[in-house]
Amino acid sequence: MRPLILALTLALAVPAIALPASATGPEHGPEHGHHRVDDLRDLARKLHISIGSAVDVAALRAEPDYQARLNREFDHITAENAMKWESVEPERGVYAWEDADEVVRNARRHGQQVRGHTLVWHNQLPAWLTGGVEDGTIDATELRKILRDHVTTQVRRYKGKIRAWDVVNEALNEDGTMRQSIWLTHLGPGYIADAFRWARRADPRAKLYLNDYNVEWNAPKIEGTLNLIKELRAQRVPIDGMGFQGHLGIQYDYPGDWANVMRRFADLGLEIAVTELDVRMVLPVTPEKLATQAEYYGRALSDCLSVRACREFTVWGFTDRHSWVPGWFDGEGSACLLDENLAPKPAYDTLLTTRRVSGP
Ligand code: XIL
Repeated sequence: MRPLILALTLALAVPAIALPASATGPEHGPEHGHHRVDDLRDLARKLHISIGSAVDVAALRAEPDYQARLNREFDHITAENAMKWESVEPERGVYAWEDADEVVRNARRHGQQVRGHTLVWHNQLPAWLTGGVEDGTIDATELRKILRDHVTTQVRRYKGKIRAWDVVNEALNEDGTMRQSIWLTHLGPGYIADAFRWARRADPRAKLYLNDYNVEWNAPKIEGTLNLIKELRAQRVPIDGMGFQGHLGIQYDYPGDWANVMRRFADLGLEIAVTELDVRMVLPVTPEKLATQAEYYGRALSDCLSVRACREFTVWGFTDRHSWVPGWFDGEGSACLLDENLAPKPAYDTLLTTRRVSGP
């Protein structure tokens, strides 16, 4: 039996406002064992996991402070949008790899591993594809070939440069049944097994993940996802990991069973990753809400650390300057670790003080 690993968060007393940047600078970094923890990258090294962020490629190009902070804090990155189908093949057969290439190039230059996101999804598909399926000019046989070519082309392009791929994203409904996407409707449930097999063939060393949201807590979705993975495994489909998106909000309870849920997936022999963590709040921001947010971030990291198979902890953007939350959740925001000016919020400091400890 493996030793029981517990993670303990030593939450900092939360001041009335976010700590100034200098309070977490190298001179003042919290102690970690006998060593100071300077930043998230240093923390990742000490915890023996990867700590990642989604990357906004426009900001990466245009904002030196964004780029510097990303490269200082993170040892793992995910392209927020640049690898999605509508981004890489806006017109049929016309590929636009510049943005995705830039994200990968920056990562390699800074010693960061890369999560590929995402190959098969129902959102952010190019209009030529959804339109063609809708008007019948793309039939099921052709659609399957298009999907195979897409998976193969993209995985091959970055062969050896992507640690893990989100092969299939958001395949299930909240009730645990399969989502009625164009993939399910036209190709049947076998599209999932196909996609994993095509991806494995294109890059045998990349870890292949299923990725979804609300699997942190929603029982029917948890059971449905576990059953799907068991079926895939029974068919010898090459699936290596389960990604928990982790889009949380402090107006909801923290998903208190998350570590146990991770463990159930790990017990199937899967690697685990937190792939898109953010913790939003109903605006306006208050010190109390920031304190709750800090607790949620800390618990999420502790949960990951308590499961040996959890090896990556990625946030969906690191600064409120570039976060999908205000655009997608009416009246909500402030979901990231750093504010618009890249000043650390209490959540950042809580992560720096989170540690892995051996339990009884
Ligand atoms: C979001 C991006 O952050 C936005 O910029 C974009 O407009 C929509 O998609 N689950 C996922 C991510 O898997 O790809 C989504 O990213 C957030 C939810």
